[in-house]
Amino acid sequence: MNEEYKNKVNKKYEKNLQKGERFWPDSIYKDLLISFAIFILLIGLASFVGVHPEPKVDPTDATYVPRPEWYFLFLFEFLKYFPGELEWVGATVIPGILVAALLLLPFYDKNPYRFYTKRTFALGLMSFIVGGMVTLTIKAATVITGPMALALFALVWGTLFFALHKRPEQKTATRKSLLWLATIGIFAIIGTAYVQTAALAGDEEEAVVANTIAEKMALGQDLYSLQCVECHGADGEGGTITVTAADGTEELLPVKAINTKDEMYTRNDETLYNIIAYGQPSLGMTPFGGAYGGELSTSEIEYIVTYLRYTWDDRAEVPADAVSSSIPALAEGEVPSYEVHISAVTKRYCVSCHREGKENNNYIMDNYEDLLNGGDNAPNIVAGDMNSILLQVIQGNEVNGQTGLIHVMPPSGKPLKDEYIDMFIRWVEAGMPNTAADAAALSTAAPAE
Ligand code: HEC
Ligand code: HEC
Repeated sequence: MNEEYKNKVNKKYEKNLQKGERFWPDSIYKDLLISFAIFILLIGLASFVGVHPEPKVDPTDATYVPRPEWYFLFLFEFLKYFPGELEWVGATVIPGILVAALLLLPFYDKNPYRFYTKRTFALGLMSFIVGGMVTLTIKAATVITGPMALALFALVWGTLFFALHKRPEQKTATRKSLLWLATIGIFAIIGTAYVQTAALAGDEEEAVVANTIAEKMALGQDLYSLQCVECHGADGEGGTITVTAADGTEELLPVKAINTKDEMYTRNDETLYNIIAYGQPSLGMTPFGGAYGGELSTSEIEYIVTYLRYTWDDRAEVPADAVSSSIPALAEGEVPSYEVHISAVTKRYCVSCHREGKENNNYIMDNYEDLLNGGDNAPNIVAGDMNSILLQVIQGNEVNGQTGLIHVMPPSGKPLKDEYIDMFIRWVEAGMPNTAADAAALSTAAPAE
């Protein structure tokens, strides 16, 4: 650096110092104000928006693919170019050197110029690194391939450079349109990346995560209906199960009630959790935990335990928002709908046996279509027909079907509550409306007495 230039810079600095503001306290004060505003914004975001939670960790879930946040995706993608035993080079050594190089920049970069044409090497190198990071991120987050991403980046960068590079013969209008073009290009890339990622994320089934006790109870009740009612009864009252012994003989075994004070007082949440996870293989209860070959995750078992505890333990006080029953009562003259009433009853009392994957029957009851048209003896329920098979069996009458005797339902021997049987009858009478709106239309159409 020559003396002349140095003096020029110092003079300019002195001049600016006179009219300028001081770092302390002026700049610091501004910084404080802004960082305080950002702090408030963060607190607001955390309290009112929050982070979408994932289910509890489940070490037995081999299908979970962890992915870093988007701003680390480039590193994630970068690692793919390193064989396993050299991973540490890509993960720590190279990023470490780059960060150190940035930190030490003031000590080795003594170039006094700031104008970009005088800093071609530094700018070129940095563009290369940033370009690489952008390319890797795009490659990791979207279906755009590496070369395509690189080409896009080069195109945008080139346009930007061309627009910003001042040349006397270039018109302002041309520069402006080039700048616009580059901006649109950047947004187009971000947009595509976003849409692609959303599409990819949409493919993965979104896990239901419960936060409040009410939500856990609701999910737990659904899971209980699906997985446990078959053996333990809709209300945990117990029943009988058929167990096939090793020699092929079938044996009818009683299942004790689990909704009792005795059960709830002697089993804490952890024990209940373990019983569900391990099952009671010697007594005829298969394991439900993923680690033992079952189909429930850690969170799902926890929801069931919450449901059992708050439903059957008289010491547990149910939070006010969780009190309402999952099966809404019918008002006088109200027509029930599948959506609101019937599905709630079947979900609780029938679906555990009448669903996909059950070998002892082919009548699926977890959706409107199959409920009306499914089963070996279909149709089991016909609009306006009071002799429908379904109505018969829930009222305690066995029916001779094409496939043999159809037993009383539910087969546990404990009939549905009268109000639920009544609900089915009124639904069939009214023509079995699907949605609440259909049912409401029928309710109002009925002549007032
Ligand atoms: C295939 C039938 C079957 C299924 C399905 C089943 N269990 Fe069991 N369960 C049993 C049997 C049998 C016992 C032993 C009952 C006995 O001792 O009378 C039992 C026992 C229990 C006990 C009491 C254990 C004790 O010693 O206190 C609990 C609690 C329990 N089961 C919860 C559940 C839950 C929750 C589900 C649903 C996730 C479930 N079970 C699903 C058959 C089953
Ligand atoms: C514990 C298991 C279980 C539960 C709970 C249960 N079912 Fe069944 N259901 C069966 C089995 C098994 C059959 C096969 C025929 C038989 O054994 O009667 C059947 C058959 C039927 C059939 C005849 C289907 C056909 O096309 O052959 C109807 C209708 C039926 N059930 C209605 C119900 C209703 C309504 C509920 C709920 C209130 C219910 N079931 C609850 C096990 C169950």
